[in-house]
Parts: sequence; C-alpha cells; structure tokens
Amino acid sequence: MVGLAHDTDSRDSGAAAGEVTLALVGPQLRERVLELAPHPFQRTWSGVPADTLGPAERDPRQHPVAILLDGGPVGFFVLHGGVSAGRFVRPHSEFLVRAFFVDATLQHRGIGSRALALMPAFARSLDPTLTRLVLTVNDVNEVAQHAYLRAGFRDTGERYQRPGAGPQFVLDLPV
Ligand SMILES: CC(C)(COP(=O)(O)OP(=O)(O)OC[C@H]1O[C@@H](n2cnc3c(N)ncnc32)[C@H](O)[C@@H]1OP(=O)(O)O)[C@@H](O)C(=O)NCCC(=O)NCCS
Repeated sequence: MVGLAHDTDSRDSGAAAGEVTLALVGPQLRERVLELAPHPFQRTWSGVPADTLGPAERDPRQHPVAILLDGGPVGFFVLHGGVSAGRFVRPHSEFLVRAFFVDATLQHRGIGSRALALMPAFARSLDPTLTRLVLTVNDVNEVAQHAYLRAGFRDTGERYQRPGAGPQFVLDLPV
C-alpha cells in the first residue's frame, strides 16, 4: 500500500462548496448518472455507469448509489451483497463496494472523501445487519488507495488478480 505524497493546497480549485449526500439511483437520477464518467485512463479501475448501472439495476443484490452535490449527481458506486458479490464478502451482512468514482470534472475537491464518510451509515440503512464493507483497488491506483485509507478502510492483506485490470489490494471497513 502506498502513502500518497501530496499537499492539501494542491487541489485544483479547492473543496467543492455544497452538501454531499448519497441516494439510490432511481428513475429521477438515472439519466444524469449515465452522463458521469471518470477520466478515460481511470475507466479500467471503476468502469462507467453506461456499463455498470444496468447490471446493478437488474440484480436485486446490487444497490446503485449516486453521489450528489447539492442534489445533483457527481459520482457513483454500487453496494453489492450476496453470493454474486464474490469471495471476499460473506453472503450476509457485508457489501462489496464497486464502481466507485467521482466525475472527472469534480475530482480532488473533497467529494470522494465526503461520500466515503457517508457510506457506512448509508449502507447500514440498506442492511441493518451490516458489519463490513469490502472493496478491491488496483495496486497502481494510489489516489484511490489513499482516499480509502483516509476514510478508515484497512488493508486485509488479501490480494486479487483481476482479469484485464492487474493486481488488486483487498481493503475492508468494519461498520
Ligand atoms: C478515487 C476517487 C473516487 C477519489 O475522489 P475525489 O473526490 O477525487 O477525492 P478527494 O478530493 O476527496 O480526495 C481524497 C484524498 O485523495 C487526495 N487526492 C485526490 N485526488 C488527488 C490527486 N489527483 N493527486 C493527489 N492526491 C489526490 C486528496 O488530497 C485527499 O487526501 P487528503 O484527505 O489526505 O487530503 C476519484 O479520484 C476517482 O473517481 N478516481 C477514478 C476512479 C477510481 O479510481 N475509483 C476507485 C476504484 S477502486
């Protein structure tokens, strides 16, 4: 795992003003969520809603979530439970966090960190028995690793070779 060297004054335009909240993606939000995307070079890490939202909507064990800034979608992730979430999560009381990103136009302004801070309570509202969030992050994705560790996620020590996307660290956060 990395320790990201950076200066908090290096944010492009400072922290984004406004309130960050989370909401399940429903009919009101889905078209605007589909317009969001990370930078092209980051797509291998999170995908884009054009690819990840549809499957999440069709699977009752996946919960697609919009990151909102003053009510408008600026990011996206999926909370995925059950057996189909894979071997790093137990089938009950745990979610795999997938497809997490902030739109390319608004990164490095504190939105991802604020979304991560809200995530445990939001996830628990979907599953009151929740005990743990789990995610995998590419070993070269230093910014995301740093954001997750700052949010309290821990390196489980498990490693995963994601087909087509390189080695992944497995992180978790007790909820
Ligand atoms: C990872 C991601 C969601 C973080 O969201 P964000 O809104 O950009 O992050 P924040 O502005 O809240 O910053 C979080 C931390 O990372 C640092 N950071 C963010 N972007 C950075 C950059 N480009 N360079 C250096 N540090 C950066 C911030 O300084 C902050 O650290 P601090 O709390 O010590 O000050 C976002 O960068 C992203 O969408 N990346 C592409 C998709 C991706 O990699 N997803 C993860 C899949 S596992």
